Amino acid sequence: MAIRGVLRIGEVAVRVLDLEAAVRHYGQHIGLHEVMREKDKAYFKAWDEHDHHSVVIREADSAGLDYFAYKVYDDATLTELEGKIKAHGLAVERIAAGVYPKSGRRIQFELPGGHLMQLYAEKAQIGNSMPTRNPGVLPDEGIIRGMGATRLDHVLLAGPNVTETTQFFIEVLNFDLGEELIDNDSGMQLGTFLCCSNKPHDIAFVLREERGKFHHMSFYLDSVQDVYHAGDIMGKHNISVDVGPTRHGITRGATIYFYDPSGNRNEVFSGGYIHYPDRPHLTWDTTQLGHAAFAIDNQPRPSFFNVVT
Ligand SMILES: [Fe+2]
Repeated sequence: MAIRGVLRIGEVAVRVLDLEAAVRHYGQHIGLHEVMREKDKAYFKAWDEHDHHSVVIREADSAGLDYFAYKVYDDATLTELEGKIKAHGLAVERIAAGVYPKSGRRIQFELPGGHLMQLYAEKAQIGNSMPTRNPGVLPDEGIIRGMGATRLDHVLLAGPNVTETTQFFIEVLNFDLGEELIDNDSGMQLGTFLCCSNKPHDIAFVLREERGKFHHMSFYLDSVQDVYHAGDIMGKHNISVDVGPTRHGITRGATIYFYDPSGNRNEVFSGGYIHYPDRPHLTWDTTQLGHAAFAIDNQPRPSFFNVVT
């Protein structure tokens, strides 16, 4: 197995205005499993994730991102990355094991775009409800609950200094640049899509003046048919839809964007290509902005570019 270093997104923590409404949305509607509750927080996992939780929602006066965390291969990797991040010039805060529930020690730093990022190597694993010996293919209760999200897949974050952040992910965290969207006149990077695994992106950034803004968190579904099933759930429960179903030019995923009851954007998607580190990165420019974003009708949506939390 070649994937070492940073493995995947492990946790995203967002603020919501009404905890119970959000629990209904992320639990019953998206289909995540609630695994723990604290006074003002609820913790969720997608059914096929083994770690204790991946989504944390916290009741607060405003929506948006508290922090996000990526899981690294082991503790030695965490130590190595801490040195590299400091050498790159970012201040690193150490967070002891247990401060975040079910979690080993973490390091935390602020990205050039104003987002709080954490890395950790250990989190309690509670499994996906199937045994690891002769697991079968279906959990007892079946896969499809709500939209049937199988995993938290990636986040897209909005803020300034996209190129600086992208360089940090490439040079320090060893991500590959999968795709980029550039301004056709200036060549400036407006959006970057970065890979640490075989996925067409593991994280993405878009340029925006305000610091630390949250564009969306995305959940993977098994098939394009499941994307339409998710759309049926949205219609049935009057969930506010932003765009879709359609397909992205960038990453080629079949997608629907929608909002949680507090206005945080969510995505469900399926498909896309396999990334390998020797794959040339792809560049889109603003002459093809609509096709890059939504490759069926080629229409860039103002809401998609303007609404963040
Ligand atoms: Fe996405």
